[in-house]
Amino acid sequence: MKERTLKIVDDANGLSYTLPVENGTIRAMDLRQIKTGPDDFGLMTYDPAFTNTASCRSSITYIDGDRGILQYRGYPIETLAEHCTFLEVAYLLIFGELPTQSELKSWVYDITHHTMLHETVKKFMEGFRYNAHPMGMLVSTVAALSTIYPESRNIFDAATRHHQILRLIGKMPTIAAYTYRHQLGLPYIYPDNDLSYSENFMNMLWKMVEPKYQANPVLARALDILFILHADHEQNCSTNTMRCVGSAQTDPFLSTAAAAAALAGPLHGGANEAVLIMLDEIGSKDKVPAYVKKIKEGHGKLMGFGHRVYKNYDPRAKIIKWTAEQVFEVTGRNAKLDIALELERIALQDDYFIQRKLYPNVDFYSGIIYQAMGFNPEMFTVLFAIPRTAGWLAQWQEMITDPEQKISRPRQVYTGENTRDFVPLSERGTAVRR
Ligand code: ACO
Repeated sequence: MKERTLKIVDDANGLSYTLPVENGTIRAMDLRQIKTGPDDFGLMTYDPAFTNTASCRSSITYIDGDRGILQYRGYPIETLAEHCTFLEVAYLLIFGELPTQSELKSWVYDITHHTMLHETVKKFMEGFRYNAHPMGMLVSTVAALSTIYPESRNIFDAATRHHQILRLIGKMPTIAAYTYRHQLGLPYIYPDNDLSYSENFMNMLWKMVEPKYQANPVLARALDILFILHADHEQNCSTNTMRCVGSAQTDPFLSTAAAAAALAGPLHGGANEAVLIMLDEIGSKDKVPAYVKKIKEGHGKLMGFGHRVYKNYDPRAKIIKWTAEQVFEVTGRNAKLDIALELERIALQDDYFIQRKLYPNVDFYSGIIYQAMGFNPEMFTVLFAIPRTAGWLAQWQEMITDPEQKISRPRQVYTGENTRDFVPLSERGTAVRR
């Protein structure tokens, strides 16, 4: 088959250029040869927020946003959610293949044996105020782990990298549970190696004085499914942060902390918390039409709706809706579900949302489940960060081992002043506050 090329004619001088097209992309650096003269820097692309720029080649996650498809390493998310545990999926993301039985056994053993936190972690967590936001605590604590494991800076050694991956996936639920207990003033609970990943997380969250914590199997499975759905999502804001910070050869603890900080924003992982706040603000089903009208008039956004990539129903939202039904059989129905369903019903038949292809995203229903399980909205993004750590690390490792990658450093279009004459302070006249 003939290789695809792109012909560009520069109207400035009539010169034409033929650029190779590979995987539906042209190389941005190929544009640099397009100059109006020897002093011209060469053509660049301007793409604020990377809306049409591929920053890497990746074989981890595939999304077809128009058709609502999400796959990890070629497996549909629906299949993985139905048949796998979260740790099996984490293995798939990191290593590229589903584990055999013996590989899974050692992987689970290794992760389970890296769940403990160094005792100093407790001390610096005590420094946080009683009402500190759990995401702030999580970001800072993950960053602080870098001080405990200085060898993690050795990022080009595969064995060292692997060790940090075990540590981060293992310790994330422990840190998350500590942020939860810290807010409530409860003593921290040590991990229990007899329990599965999500059961152990529930144990560290909710164990009180009983000698052995018994996790409800339906809730543990629901949590595991939610973890699978959140494990990776290709080059989203936090993953891009992980790759960007990691590209400076920063250690994986600091890079993960940076990624988690990006996740904390309300337009990204913080949206699930924002959804619950919005549902509270709406208050009841009958107030939904008025709320939607307000949004359409430009007052705010419908949180949990819309996605940069999905211009169709987010496949994760479908699975979450199904999981919600299972959870509510145990916990009782969360009254907010009715408001959410009404919001979805009205929005999906409204021209404003149809034209803009705004559908419920992963965050629309996840918060309702989490709340039914007993989490307050402040914890929701922390629950997102636990599984996403597997995705961040898979992406980080792919970036580190990709010979084409180097320090991440975009260009800018400078819009400031040209070179100006300096005026000494005493001669600057009356100050104008900007
Ligand atoms: N409610 C109402 N209008 C919306 C919404 C929304 N949730 N999302 C987008 N729009 C509108 C925009 O105002 C814009 O309208 P216009 O063309 O009249 O100006 C149009 O739809 C396109 O929106 P963009 O902002 O260009 O879309 P973008 O891809 O930049 O944003 C985003 C995607 C950030 C997710 C956006 O849809 C949003 O803010 N949603 C609410 C927050 C949310 O749920 N975030 C979670 C995303 S999933 C995740 O990160 C895990």
